[in-house]
Order: sequence, then structure tokens, then C-alpha cells
Amino acid sequence: MKKLLQTVLKSPKYSNVSEDLIRNIGGRELSKRRNLKTAVKATKNKLHQIGGAYFLKKPEYNAWLKRLEAAKRAGNDESFRKICAEIMSYHYSTRERLEILDEFYTKIYSLIPPVHSVIDVACGFHPVAIPWMPFSGKVKYCACDVYRDMMEFLGKFLVMTGVGGYAEVCDVVQHVPDSRADLAFVLNAIPCLEQVDKSAALRVLESINSSFLAVSFPVRTLGGREKDMRKYYEARFKKLTEKKEWSIQRIEFKSEMVFLVEKEASTKQKVDEQ
Ligand SMILES: C[S@@+](CC[C@H](N)C(=O)[O-])C[C@H]1O[C@@H](n2cnc3c(N)ncnc32)[C@H](O)[C@@H]1O
Repeated sequence: MKKLLQTVLKSPKYSNVSEDLIRNIGGRELSKRRNLKTAVKATKNKLHQIGGAYFLKKPEYNAWLKRLEAAKRAGNDESFRKICAEIMSYHYSTRERLEILDEFYTKIYSLIPPVHSVIDVACGFHPVAIPWMPFSGKVKYCACDVYRDMMEFLGKFLVMTGVGGYAEVCDVVQHVPDSRADLAFVLNAIPCLEQVDKSAALRVLESINSSFLAVSFPVRTLGGREKDMRKYYEARFKKLTEKKEWSIQRIEFKSEMVFLVEKEASTKQKVDEQ
């Protein structure tokens, strides 16, 4: 395992990935494969599918921080948001969401009580959308993903936006952040988590300590094809949650399908179309 970990971390593309995640995937691959070389290759492939494939360009964390700080110092909110939008365009999931940003949060936040604490699971660049989120009053935002450099950047970004909280490196298949929240985002992440462990999705949703979950699925493949993905993921999410007494509303957006889950609802599970 040590050799596999060292070899994967040597590759510039994976040098910032959580060691826990590499051990998790690598251990599974070592038990299935003939030798170290094929296990390393399979581990890198999986890391690409669940994370690497979503980067459209190499992130420029230091340059972004400098530009964001300059906009903040100048008190130029418009310029700050413009830089945020540019950052989000580097990652497939946030780029897809750019054209629906205002509508996305207005709709979700209108269906739940005021949000003062958020957990953002497998967050990617999603916390960079904080300037579009209709928070009122003090907010604590806890974000996690598997990239160390991304979490370092997001930690500094959170400080800049004035919300409390933290960004931590975490393999949520093994451990879900334990803070308590009003709302948890699990955006476009379920298919990635299931690639590591088929049973991870429900376990993660159950263990998140939040009154509401916004769980979303992409409606297009990374290649841009639609292929009936709405129907497919709706059926899968229904099956995944069929034994839970959660209240679930489906919200359709042009580029994403969201299931808003009220975990503490005593009503029988139902999927309503909004
Ligand atoms: C499709 S992207 C979604 C990003 C973000 N939630 C959004 O919708 O903008 C999936 C994200 O899950 C992260 N991820 C994959 N497996 C993970 C794991 N086991 N633990 C934490 N994050 C994970 C990837 O690094 C990637 O940022």
C-alpha cells in the first residue's frame, strides 16, 4: 500500500489528493488486481473519474486570491463576483450552474427556513457561489472535498467573504463532517461517491447532521449528451431513499435536478414536482 500511495502521489495530477482517499481506492484495487502496476493504473483512473475529469483548466489559486483580495480592498462587489464566476468556470459542475445561479439559490432557500449553517459535501468550487446565496445574519459554512490545495484556497475564500466555518480535506465515503447544519449541499456528488463504494450514497446522506439536504444530479454527461438522465437519476434516487421517511421535493433547473430532502419531517416520503 505504501508503494502504491507514493507512486500515485508522485503524479502532479494527484499530488494534492487526500491520502485517505488514495488508500481507500488503492486498497480495493490492490485486492482485485494482479500486481502493483495495474492497481496504480486503476487507482489513477478512478481518481480521474471522481474528481480530475471535472477540471476544465488548471486552477490558479494564488493568482485568484490576489485578484479577489484586490477587488475586496477596492470595495468592488461587481468585480469580486466576476472573478468568482470566472473561477467557477474552471470546474465542470460550477460552470454548468453559472447561468442559473440566482434562480438556483432563490428557489432552494425559499422552500426552507432561514439558513445559518451549511455543510457542503464534495464541494468542488461550489462555495465560490456564496456571494449569490441569500443568507441573512451570521452564517457558518463547512466545506469538504479531497483536494488539499483546493481546500486551502476555499478556507481563505471563506474568510474573505466574511462567513464563518472552514474547508477541510475529507474522504466522505469514510467520514462525513460532524458539524450540525440547517442545510447540506450534496451537489452532483452521489455518482462519484458510488464509484468508490456502491453503498456510500445512502450512508453519507443518513450521516449528515442537517435538517435539509439539497441533493442534485447532472442532467447531461461530461460530453454534453442528455441521454434521459433526469429519468434515470430520479428513479435511482427514489430507489435509494425508498425506505426512509424523508419528505422529498424535486426541483428542476435547466442544467441540474435537485432533490430537497427534509430529514426531520415526520410525514411519509413523497416526491413532489416543483
Ligand atoms: C461532480 S463534482 C461536484 C462538485 C460540486 N459539488 C458541485 O456540484 O459544484 C464531484 C466532486 O466530488 C469530489 N469527491 C469525489 N469523491 C469524493 C470523496 N470520496 N470525498 C469527498 N469528495 C469527493 C470531487 O473531488 C469533486 O469535486
